[in-house]
Amino acid sequence: MSKSNSKGRSGASQTEVPTGGITYRRLLSYAMPHWRRLVLASVCMVCFAVTDAAFAALMQPLLDGGFGAGSDRAPWVVPLAVLALFMFRGVAGFISAYQMEWVGGRVIAKLRAALFDKYLSLPTSHYDQTTGGELISRLTYNVQMVSNAASRAITVLIRDSITVIALLSLMAYHSWRLTLAFMLVGPLIGVVIGYVSRRFRRISRNIQTAMGDLTHVAEEAIEGQREVKVFGGQAHERSRFEIVNEHNFRLNLKETATRAASTPLIHFLVAIALAVIMYYAGLEGTQSHLSVGAFVSFLTAMLLLFQPLKALSDLNSVIQRGIAAGESVFSLLDTPSEPDVGTRELGGVISGISYRDVRFKYSSAPGPVVKGVSFDIGAGETVALVGRSGSGKTTLAQLLARLYEMDGGEIQVNGVDLREYSLESLRAQMAYVGQQVTLFNDTVAANIAYGLEDCSHEEIVEAAKAANADEFISQMSDGYNTWVGDNGVLLSGGQRQRIAIARALLKQCPILILDEATSALDAESERLVQDGLTNLMRNRTTMVIAHRLSTIENANRILVLDQGQLLESGTHRELLASDGHYAKLHGLQFSERPAGK
Ligand SMILES: Nc1ncnc2c1ncn2[C@@H]1O[C@H](COP(=O)(O)OP(=O)(O)OP(=O)(O)O)[C@@H](O)[C@H]1O
Ligand SMILES: [Mg+2]
Repeated sequence: MSKSNSKGRSGASQTEVPTGGITYRRLLSYAMPHWRRLVLASVCMVCFAVTDAAFAALMQPLLDGGFGAGSDRAPWVVPLAVLALFMFRGVAGFISAYQMEWVGGRVIAKLRAALFDKYLSLPTSHYDQTTGGELISRLTYNVQMVSNAASRAITVLIRDSITVIALLSLMAYHSWRLTLAFMLVGPLIGVVIGYVSRRFRRISRNIQTAMGDLTHVAEEAIEGQREVKVFGGQAHERSRFEIVNEHNFRLNLKETATRAASTPLIHFLVAIALAVIMYYAGLEGTQSHLSVGAFVSFLTAMLLLFQPLKALSDLNSVIQRGIAAGESVFSLLDTPSEPDVGTRELGGVISGISYRDVRFKYSSAPGPVVKGVSFDIGAGETVALVGRSGSGKTTLAQLLARLYEMDGGEIQVNGVDLREYSLESLRAQMAYVGQQVTLFNDTVAANIAYGLEDCSHEEIVEAAKAANADEFISQMSDGYNTWVGDNGVLLSGGQRQRIAIARALLKQCPILILDEATSALDAESERLVQDGLTNLMRNRTTMVIAHRLSTIENANRILVLDQGQLLESGTHRELLASDGHYAKLHGLQFSERPAGK
């Protein structure tokens, strides 16, 4: 497919970048229909959060009463309470995780469906400017990122903030002075931890791009394996891969080193905090009445605090990352689709097509490609476009199917500007065989019947016969049910073309566009296909593009195009008689043929 060609990466950056808040609200609108599940998840998160504090609180009765002699409590009360607590915690944790995942999964599926819909309606010019890989990675990776960040943010916001509040309250309950001391040391540690994790994140972002480079190089080598082999590109590809591979290795190592160094560092910092608190507790203990149990409970709460505190300090960056991914998804969703404002319906009868001073320039190309071309195709006529490679023939044909929007002039169908018809009704009346045939990884029959809902096997066979394809299809292992492979790799170039022609013939519609449709066929097959086509073209309005002039001699009119302009037009005889460009082209092919064969 032509879209996989590597092109510039300007992508959807033309659309205005929305602010974070808007993106966030838009994302929420995808999750809001499931608010009941969100509420349930939140309640469970609160329960989950409270258990941390409850666990720390349990330390006091355990130590002060449970182990000491003379306790009036049965020895199984506290252990049982611990079990109950953890069971409660487990259930709450499960429900909240499950519900969050459910909502997140729905949001992902909905975003993906919307994106895929957009892909089906993006203008062709958009595909010229982005790589297929980029569009795919938005669909898979970015959407996943958005949803992960959003559910992570909600979880942290609810669960961890409540955990922090509960634990701090417990600590303050035991000793407000120690709590105060902790609050002085804590933020300092927080800053250091924040720094370490930021660095960690930067490296991991680099790793993502390094991974992308790796895939890109590998993809090119795999897709172009024939060229690599024949042109002896192995050494070049190998050295290219080695560079990205090595880079990837270094970055991975750096990530591991940061992580391995950061954990003991954080632990050491925590130990400092502990030491400070213990020192104060020692002082306090001599003068105040902090029991052993209360002190251990306090310490437990303090240790339990670090994890949620770290998560909370990361919250902003999680949200920012989600918003960045969300923006990239939404900006694509906001890219305008193909303009389709026409309301007229084009019926099945075509009384003529006329190009009126048509002008066109590709947005990525410097100059105009079609510079004021005018011609008519009468009902049921066949008009052939010939001309040098790059003269604009394919472009003119694609303008008729409105794959691109022209910049000036107009094309009329039945006397009405093309743009006044709805896209669907316009395209429903045309069949198109492009220069690059695209087959889908499906059976031969499904490829021929592509886009048609109800057509019988007989009709498919009939179309294949007209395209001179029936013979080779019958010889395949499963006949019409043979799979053609990814873009038809299991077929020869000429076989692919004949399937594409059969597809165009089966779609019984009044306008036919054939762009080098038989260029890959040998002379005999071409003549057979040509016979089939000639029969069918009789009642269709046809535009044929061909380099091999022998195939278009019978056209009602031949247009000679050069650099986006019409040089001459007439029948084969007229043009030969006038001894102009066409005659020259014809002479060249005619004199070349004996030598070529
Ligand atoms: N998608 C595109 N974006 C930018 N420029 C393009 C694009 N497609 C074609 N062009 C340019 O437009 C010009 C006309 O291309 P077009 O495909 O219409 O030529 P053609 O007459 O069909 O040639 P050929 O006989 O080789 O098929 C060429 O110079 C080409 O480089
Ligand atoms: Mg072309």
